[in-house]
Amino acid sequence: MTAYKIEEHSYDVVVVGAGGSGLRATLGMAEQGLKTACITKVFPTRSHTVAAQGGIAASLGNMGPDHWQWHMYDTVKGSDWLGDVDAMEYLAREATKAVYELEHYGVPFSRTEEGKIYQRPFGGHTTEFGEGPPVQRTCAAADRTGHAMLHTLYGRSLKEKAEFYIEYFAIDLIMSEDGQCQGVVAWKLDDGTIHVFNAKMTVLATGGYGRAYFSATSAHTCTGDGNGMVARAGLPLQDMEFVQFHPTGIYGAGCLITEGARGEGGYLTNSEGERFMERYAPTYKDLASRDVVSRCMTMEIREGRGVGPNKDHIHLHLNHLPKEALQLRLPGISESAKIFAGVDVTKEPIPVLPTVHYNMGGIPTNYWGEVLNADAEHPDRVAPGLMAVGEAACASVHGANRLGSNSLIDLVVFGRAAAIRAGQVVDPSAPNPALNRASVDAALDRFDRLRNAAGAIPTAELRLNMQKTMQDNAAVFRTSEVLEEGVVRMTEVARQMADVQVTDRSLIWNSDLMETLELDNLMPNALATIVSAEARKESRGAHAHEDFPERDDVNWRKHTLARVDGSTVWLDYRPVHTEPLTAAEAGGIDPARIAPKARVY
Ligand code: FUM
Repeated sequence: MTAYKIEEHSYDVVVVGAGGSGLRATLGMAEQGLKTACITKVFPTRSHTVAAQGGIAASLGNMGPDHWQWHMYDTVKGSDWLGDVDAMEYLAREATKAVYELEHYGVPFSRTEEGKIYQRPFGGHTTEFGEGPPVQRTCAAADRTGHAMLHTLYGRSLKEKAEFYIEYFAIDLIMSEDGQCQGVVAWKLDDGTIHVFNAKMTVLATGGYGRAYFSATSAHTCTGDGNGMVARAGLPLQDMEFVQFHPTGIYGAGCLITEGARGEGGYLTNSEGERFMERYAPTYKDLASRDVVSRCMTMEIREGRGVGPNKDHIHLHLNHLPKEALQLRLPGISESAKIFAGVDVTKEPIPVLPTVHYNMGGIPTNYWGEVLNADAEHPDRVAPGLMAVGEAACASVHGANRLGSNSLIDLVVFGRAAAIRAGQVVDPSAPNPALNRASVDAALDRFDRLRNAAGAIPTAELRLNMQKTMQDNAAVFRTSEVLEEGVVRMTEVARQMADVQVTDRSLIWNSDLMETLELDNLMPNALATIVSAEARKESRGAHAHEDFPERDDVNWRKHTLARVDGSTVWLDYRPVHTEPLTAAEAGGIDPARIAPKARVY
């Protein structure tokens, strides 16, 4: 192996990723006086959270009655009863505090006439435990909420003296022989140096893996890097079969048109001009949960009622809304529709199609963000020294389907929770233990092997094969036949990683190598997704299995665990947490309220 120039660093906490959850964790750690570094492959304010549009859910009740228990109920129902109830209670209860903190940090939320934080309706968010009308729960900064949050959190983190390592690519975790995470090895993209970060606590905030698919609202940077590192460390990934398709990606381009567009009064039509959601979800219509709306759109297209010359998409209408409302509440998507679909939203409908948007699955954690080295026998065993937050993590608050605007709140609630927990378990006065050098060497061996990879398949070609396979074989609707074929295809694609070809051997701004490292991270994500999906013989949330169309709580109300080694996946399962944190007598939710039942909107 080539000798690499290595720089050593020592911190209490290293956070990998500077999106909403990474920055909220970084800020919380630094506020408590922990010596904190945040490593990020892109400039913090370019992290994918910047693309989050519609808003952040919290039961502030600024626009009408709301209650954290209604939010919790909606989240449980939205998850199709796969989410962990303790984590969902924590999310719904802490949400209001977390949003007011953001406000006080300086996030420029849109305002009501009285100066309160403006909130809009979003799919699946209701009143009265699903019996009342839709609620306005999603706090918004126009349709640029993620953008506003990132800028504020980055500024505040700098103020608290968190240290940023920007444009550093994390290669692998450093693991001790007895399974303690000791930090990460990273590559500095602009000068080619290698950096070893010794940390008492490592927090993975690396986002989702939308780019395992051909068409996604996710940025090209969403390559599941933390999940890839975890898989290589021999730890499991959880519930990877649950991939969310957002109903309104722009047809052809894949860019997001926020659900806030329907929250503000937009609606979907088919080729007959029919508002078809009224048929499928008579109560909440276009504001049914995302998995439901995406399936209904797909059924309309499959039954020949898609729009356009190929009848392969759907129309989203905003043209009936007042121009001033569009300018005030939806300026960003009005611009995106113009640029990416050539549509003036004040006059014409936007062509849209369900598009991969979010990964409910990820690195299993408890609601403090501690990573679980779980198996059937040890379902809640903590992996010491390692946390995960945000889309990379699976807490699991979203279960089989996430509600819109529950992602941004997940980022800040669990970023904050991780900081609180780190404050309890990290001793800033203790010395950092010596690193396991064999683990550092293993990380650099892999890096060096990929850098010098002289196979026959260029990275871009292999990536396209993976993306096409996932798009074809793990889509909105799935069948046993399609999934079985997908497992065979993806296993072959993953095997071909051994024959990948990198042509640029340099170390400075080597995008060929970086994309190959990203592809090596995407592979275990894609493989775990398809294998977990093939194994799950039921339909639940985003996993719509046409051969098993019913939810099966007796056999399948359990989390999938997938351990991936190269092209091999081992599955195991752990139980769902069904107990709330707080007893009903102490002010918690009545467990009868959240008992599984048919999920209708
Ligand atoms: O539609 C949106 O604005 C996306 C929000 C979300 O995924 O939470």
